[in-house]
This record gives sequence, structure tokens and C-alpha cells, in this order.
Amino acid sequence: MTVESVEPGPSEATALREPPVAGGGVPVLGHGWRLVRDPLAFMTRLRDHGDVVRLKLGPKTVYAVTTPALTGALALSPDYIIAGPLWESLEGLLGKEGVATANGPLHRRQRRTIQPAFRLDALPGYGPIMEEEVHALTERWISGQTIDCTAESYRVAVRVAARCLLRSRFMDERAERMCAALATVFRGMYQRMVVPLGPLYKLPLPANRAFNRALADLHLLVDEIVAERRASGQKPNDLLTTLLEAKDENGDPIGEQEIHDQVVAILTPGGETISSTIMSLLYMLAAHPEHGDKVHDEVEAVTGGRPVAFRDIHQLSHTNNVVVEAMRLRPAVWILTRRAVTDTELGGYRIPAGADIIYSPYAIQRDPQSYERHLEFDPDRWLPERSESIPKYAMRPFGVGNRKCPGDHFSMALLTLTTAILANRYRFERVAESDDAPRIGVTLHPNRLLLRPVTR
Ligand code: HEM
Repeated sequence: MTVESVEPGPSEATALREPPVAGGGVPVLGHGWRLVRDPLAFMTRLRDHGDVVRLKLGPKTVYAVTTPALTGALALSPDYIIAGPLWESLEGLLGKEGVATANGPLHRRQRRTIQPAFRLDALPGYGPIMEEEVHALTERWISGQTIDCTAESYRVAVRVAARCLLRSRFMDERAERMCAALATVFRGMYQRMVVPLGPLYKLPLPANRAFNRALADLHLLVDEIVAERRASGQKPNDLLTTLLEAKDENGDPIGEQEIHDQVVAILTPGGETISSTIMSLLYMLAAHPEHGDKVHDEVEAVTGGRPVAFRDIHQLSHTNNVVVEAMRLRPAVWILTRRAVTDTELGGYRIPAGADIIYSPYAIQRDPQSYERHLEFDPDRWLPERSESIPKYAMRPFGVGNRKCPGDHFSMALLTLTTAILANRYRFERVAESDDAPRIGVTLHPNRLLLRPVTR
């Protein structure tokens, strides 16, 4: 039986078990202190306690799912939606009418609207922008001089996403503002999501001021881009035109707020996840130079020495495996949440209506029950003959089901192209002051990665 065909489970409530409570909780705080102190280690050990376990976060009970099959069942079941305190705090910052936080018919309509911009046949249209931006990144670097990978990754991710999806005359000044705004917003957002102390963030402290300025600038930028497009009267074939022409379920144009929130809801996860993944890729290329060399050799064999182009991507299979393996060990999206809308079950365990459920792609993708030598960076594990033995849903960095990332193909194309162009031109040396440890935020990325690119 495949996970897609998992039935709602035994109808008699008595047949259902109560999930065990995970060990390691303390009075009053429960497991909260572990989740705050070292969430990655905590999440990766949860499977030892059961397939579904209960966590105590202060007075609240949260359910954690720990096996690949059950994360698939969770994501595919209609009994769960996107909701909960984390999402509510996100809505307060980014807007209430975007696709990432909507549910039900509104979510279905919004997905239908945006999907064409991300379809496989739309991707080659983005090729020239991706090529131009990634080659420009390598032009900026000087062999032997240290680069700040956070800033460089943000720059390329935000510029590509914004230029591809909003097509507008995306002036450099505006691109820089958007990079700066998104970087600051994302740094402050995680804190506001996990420690929702509203009044504290209103205090006139430098960090709060910087966050509020960046958030206001992000919203202003989106307004400027929308207004500029309307004033131009142009309708290029891009996501913004699609949004401006979208109709609601009554056939009426969608409102200004929804257009605005949709742009924010698509650009923010897009920019942040891609930049975090580029940072992790750079880290892996520096930590495993032999794979950088192998990417270089593959690229040379495919291009014969001409600049790498978008059309080469489908031939760069080792490069693609390097990307997948980096995403396995350092997934940008390290935690996902759902809320049960009805009394239901998961793996024979009772899940009450209103329960919040979490799972960690980071933990699932590092599970020794799914992966041989689970902590080893081994891109060849994705060769067809070897990857067959990896359990279903053990590697889903873009999620599963109706909330699956619409930007998955877009991202894989951009990340493969980026890895090919960077590793073809440079070897990456580690720098003593660099801090490669994973940093927990809305996404996961190296804390402060500094590298020295050296021309091959
Ligand atoms: C949703 C990961 C790139 C836009 C998601 C989800 C994951 C994810 C795991 C599902 C969340 C859930 O199940 O609750 C990633 C990763 C990326 C990436 C790892 C790159 C490495 C992008 C890009 C865009 C994008 C480039 C757009 C420009 C979105 C949106 C959603 C989403 C709008 C919400 C979809 C919905 O709720 O229906 N992403 N993403 N992502 N992603 Fe991505």
C-alpha cells in the first residue's frame, strides 16, 4: 500500500493509541527548552521515542511525526491544514492574503493562478536571467579574496527570483534594497515567530528599528513594483501580469491587498530558501573539494569549455546530485507544521481536532534507518541504482501534497546552474574566521560563512 492510499484509519476511537510523550521534558517548560537550545539535535533524536510522539511546550501539547511514511501521510491527508501560532505571527508580518498561509478554496484558487509561472515549460524563459545573474556573481569575485557568502547568496537569489517572476525594469538600486530588506526581515522574523512578545518588539531598540524599517521597505518596494507595472501598461508574460489579471471565484478581479500579499508571499520564501541553499552548497563545495573538481570535470565534458548555459542543466547529473545531497544534509526548510481540523489518526495514533503537528525534514533526511552512512556527504547515493533503496518520503525538501513548493523545478534549475558555474570557475577555500555551524532561523543555513574563491 502506498502512502497516498492510506485510509483515514480505524473508525473506532478505541482502536487508537495515545502517542507516547517524548523523554527529556522538565517541569513547567516541558520540552520547550530543548527545542530552543538545540532544536536540530532534539528533532533528530525523536524517532527513538516513537513514530508519533507528544511534546509538552509549557502547558501545550504538540505532536511530532518522525517517520518518512507518516510525514507523507500527514502532508497528503485533508484532515490537516496550515495554521497555528507560527503562521499567525507570519501573517502579521507578511500579510494575510498570500498563498503560503491561505487554506481551502482560496488556497486552491491562488495555487491555480500562480502555477503557470512555475511550470516546467515556463522555465527556459528564465534561463537567460539565471545565466546572467550567476555569471555576474562570479565576475564580482576576485581570486583569493574572501567573500561573505551570506550577502553573495542573498544577492543572486533575490535578484533572480525578482527578475524572473516580476520581469519589471528591476533597477540595481531596487534590487539592493530588496536584498537588504529581506535579509533583515528574515533575521528578525524567526525570533518574532517563536517568541511572540508583541510589545517587546515595539521598544525603540536599534534591532527593532532596523527590522521595522526593513519590513516597511519590503512592502513599499512591492507597492512600487506593482504601481510601475500598472503605469507602464505593459503585460509581459510573468507572474505579476498573471496576478494583476487574476479573477476571484465570482469572476471579479482580485483585490489590491491580495495582489500585494501574493507578491510578498512568493518572493519571501523564494529568496530566503534559495539563498540558504546556495550558502549550504558553497559550504559543501569547500568542505568536499573533490566534488567541486568532479562538477568542474562534468561541466567541461558537457560544454567543451564554453560558458555554462541553462540548456546544459539536464546533462549535469553529478552536479544535480551534489545539489540534492547538500539539500539532504542541510535542508533550508528544517521544520514544517500542520494543524488537525478534525479528530483523526496518524499511524494508529489518536490526533485530536486542533492539535498542532510538527516534523523536521532535517531529521527525516538524516535518519540512519533511511540512509546508509547517514551523515556522510555522498552525492553518488542519488545514482539511480543506489537511490532505489531510499524509502519514499525520506527526501522531500520541497514538501509533499497540496502545499508542496510551487518553486521546486525553478529552484532545482537555478541551484544546478549556480553550482555548475561556481565550481567550474573556482575552488573554494575555507577561511579561519568562518563560522560554518548551522544557524536556526525561518530557514537553516551556515551561521556566517566566509570563503576564499580561487580561480581554477
Ligand atoms: C512552500 C521549500 C524555493 C515559493 C514550500 C514548502 C517547502 C518549500 C518545504 C512546503 C511547506 C509546507 O509543506 O508546509 C523550498 C525550498 C526551496 C524553495 C527548499 C529552494 C531551495 C521556492 C521558490 C519560490 C517558493 C524559488 C518562489 C519564488 C513557495 C511558496 C510556498 C512554498 C509560495 C507555499 C505554497 C503553498 O502553501 O501552497 N517551499 N522552497 N519556494 N514555497 Fe518553496
